[in-house]
Amino acid sequence: MATLPPPARPLVAPKVPPPKPRGTAARGFGATSRTTRWWAAPALQGTVFTICATYLFISGVLLTPLFNTPYEVDGYLSPLFSPLIVLPFLPAWFSPAILILWIPLGFRATCYYYRKAYYRFYFADPPGCAVGEPTIHRRYSMEASLPFILQNLHRYFLYLAFIPLFFLWIDAFTSFRLDGAWRIGLGTVILTFNALLLTGYSLSCHSLRHLVGGKIDCFSCSRNTQIRHGLWQRLTSLNRHHMAWAWISLLTVTFADVYVRLLALGVITDPAIHF
Ligand code: FES
Repeated sequence: MATLPPPARPLVAPKVPPPKPRGTAARGFGATSRTTRWWAAPALQGTVFTICATYLFISGVLLTPLFNTPYEVDGYLSPLFSPLIVLPFLPAWFSPAILILWIPLGFRATCYYYRKAYYRFYFADPPGCAVGEPTIHRRYSMEASLPFILQNLHRYFLYLAFIPLFFLWIDAFTSFRLDGAWRIGLGTVILTFNALLLTGYSLSCHSLRHLVGGKIDCFSCSRNTQIRHGLWQRLTSLNRHHMAWAWISLLTVTFADVYVRLLALGVITDPAIHF
């Protein structure tokens, strides 16, 4: 008897994404056999993140158009506005920070670490390791469909993120010069540390690590792959602390903006040595 050929495999992806796996955590929101305070870290992280993100949104988008608050003073430029792009044809309600902020915003929003963090503290998806999540999550499939499938753009945001980073270093270096003389002020230190920590955050990126060391079968087979292996090892040592880089650089960029704003408003003065 003749055997039938196997059914042809579909050539296009199904329109309905596959259901979300149930996972192994105990069922029911918050149900867990963990005895530790698993909720403490997401609660703290969610609070800090919300405060920083809200402040950065207000400062970058609303503050200058609404109250004409300066973002630049005495050679110090807020990192939210760097590189400063002023287009004369844009209306007064349009903050110049918007022209550049979408890059660091996209970079952070799609970051592998932040995804884990904000899925926990904003969506309880899951609230913690081995902790039950709301049953409503079974109806959708997170990063397999819009809008969260856009998280796959992370690598491209990484490439773009080096543009504002480059200008932040220029701002940090130029802040050491004021009116043709040298100075070392608290502002120069803050801007330099901010650029340094943002560099650490960018270089510790998981995507960059894969870009440098991925898709290679043999690290020792050629001079090129040996160099890539050496770079990959260095990036890996940074990548181990990516969570720390993520938090500390978020705090310093927030603090750097607060410092420049307060300085520009005359609320504080910049302690500095001029020579
Ligand atoms: Fe966090 Fe790329 S994974 S910046």
